[in-house]
Amino acid sequence: MADPTYGARHIAIIMDGNGRWAKRKHLPRALGHKKGVEAVRNIVRTAGRMGIEAMTLYAFSSENWNRPEDEISDLMGLLRQYIQSDIEEFVENGVRLKVIGNYKALDTDIVEMIDEAIEKTAGNTKMTLAVALNYGAQDELLRATHYIAAATQSGEIELDKLSIEHISNALDTADMPPLDLLIRTSGELRLSNFLLWQAAYAELYFTDTLWPDFDQGELEKALKSFGSRERRFGGR
Ligand code: IPE
Ligand code: IPE
Ligand code: MG
Repeated sequence: MADPTYGARHIAIIMDGNGRWAKRKHLPRALGHKKGVEAVRNIVRTAGRMGIEAMTLYAFSSENWNRPEDEISDLMGLLRQYIQSDIEEFVENGVRLKVIGNYKALDTDIVEMIDEAIEKTAGNTKMTLAVALNYGAQDELLRATHYIAAATQSGEIELDKLSIEHISNALDTADMPPLDLLIRTSGELRLSNFLLWQAAYAELYFTDTLWPDFDQGELEKALKSFGSRERRFGGR
């Protein structure tokens, strides 16, 4: 059988369209988010079965704080539930949980839950699941810049020797393979401050499918499209 990943080691998804999914069905937005979590669970399992090495999911952006308080509280509630209910499955399936973004700014109980889950799954090697929480690529680059500035001041990094590698290594995704495929659901054609640096040579895939409807078949379609691309990295 052909490799279902088509050689993609790292896939990232902007999981968009929960609100519109609910609206179309005349349901409250919160139910759209709930269905969105089910889609996450399904896609994480599917990616694991396919042998994807790393997956990064955009769950809450640094700009999503601009939403009404009750929606933010629904999303945080779902996050609590998800970590609690799925952590054992991660342990069983060899999934290493990672969080990118400034998650330490979330509620203390969530931060503790996350840190515990990260610790519990730290030795897992089958797949890395990076969840982007309070993540914005500009914020990530700002934090990396602070780190590098301090490292040059202390002499740890020589300013003349500062390289692309140093920047990559200062980002939240430092220990992950290069990004191969970036998927966005729900028909929006923008990156919304997601993985701006890492997407430099990623293949982009946009689908009108709303996130709660994104299933194994949709992932297979995206990977097939990825497999049909010629990646040139500036060469010829
Ligand atoms: C994505 O769905 C989930 C988050 C951003 C947390 P949206 O809530 O953005 O759904 P739409 O874009 O309004 O349909
Ligand atoms: C991007 O979706 C963020 C996540 C999927 C978590 P948004 O719905 O927040 O993006 P915009 O506002 O339409 O650009
Ligand atoms: Mg949206």
